[in-house]
Amino acid sequence: MKRQSFISGVGYNLPDKIMRNEELSNYMDTSDEWISERSGIKERRVVEKLKESGVGPAELSIPAVQNALDRANLNKEDIDLIIFSTAMPDYFLPGSGCLLQEKMGFPMIGALDIRVQCAGFIYGLSVADQFIKSGTYDNVLLVCSEVQSTTIDYSNRGRDVAVLFGDGAGAVVVSATSESKGILSHHLHSEGKYAKELWIETPSAQMYPRLTNELVDEGRHHLKMNGREVFKQAVKRFPEVILECLNHNNIDAEEIDLFLPHQANIRINNMVQKKLGLRDDQVFNNIQKYGNTTSATIPILLGEAYESGRIKEGNLVLMAAFGSGFTWGASLMRW
Ligand code: UT7
Repeated sequence: MKRQSFISGVGYNLPDKIMRNEELSNYMDTSDEWISERSGIKERRVVEKLKESGVGPAELSIPAVQNALDRANLNKEDIDLIIFSTAMPDYFLPGSGCLLQEKMGFPMIGALDIRVQCAGFIYGLSVADQFIKSGTYDNVLLVCSEVQSTTIDYSNRGRDVAVLFGDGAGAVVVSATSESKGILSHHLHSEGKYAKELWIETPSAQMYPRLTNELVDEGRHHLKMNGREVFKQAVKRFPEVILECLNHNNIDAEEIDLFLPHQANIRINNMVQKKLGLRDDQVFNNIQKYGNTTSATIPILLGEAYESGRIKEGNLVLMAAFGSGFTWGASLMRW
């Protein structure tokens, strides 16, 4: 039987602190009505903001990783490689994967950080899949963790972005199997001409010094987005890459048991669902509770789908994401 890779364990973790739309309207000119109508978001989770030694993505991911290991029935010693996806690394360097290796006491295995923003889970899964299918490794840990609230401009200047993003982490263990299940295909894309439509400009290696008081005063260290352009491209690229994936696997949209889309805006997801002709029972969203947690959205969805019994053995699961870069992609798997 052919060597396949499958998700043997999934976990997620969210900070305890809930920031509701109403709270945001204390800091900027916005309202629950505007945020709910334009994005579907009601609340998001945020870490405590401290001047020093707060919670970064490596720390935030620990319970998610432990959960994924327990569900996979594996110990830290069984893991062959850590892939850490984050758009918001603890430090410019070294990578958050190395920090996690030390914090959780993993053996001295490889730790590979990937920076593909919202598409991080899809890209990371494709890397894990290659290591497993080639026979190089048996168990790869894929972690997606984002602490974004510390880069947000919680003032009128940043209100278009501030209301959308939240903190969160998800993790999966990708393992080898000889059964006929698991990851079927990946479809990855990028279009760097849109790099500045969703970006954090500084600190930048192109500047000397990389960060100045002036840059901070101008707010150029905050996450910035051209929302309309991102929206326009997202509703075009999602259906495109999903159809590419379905055609590659010779599958009709109606055969999908569960679609787990990236959670950036409920309006985007509703438009994609409509374009593909998917029924409500085929699509799972949770943006209402967590906002956009960038690469963590899909593993958090997967964790909730697993816990609620919404995902069952043999189910055909489609996942797709689009974000900064622009980068986007889709994956299909048999659970
Ligand atoms: O995961 C990465 C991918 N990210 C995305 O996919 C996000 C894509 N973009 C979006 O989700 C939407 O574009 C937004 C939710 C960001 C914005 O929704 P929109 O319907 O495109 O609104 P808009 O940008 O066209 O703004 C409409 C109005 C503007 O005022 P004027 O110019 O019409 O007077 C904004 O200044 O809403 C104003 N506005 C706000 N009002 C209240 C912008 N942000 C806010 C706010 N509260 N937070």
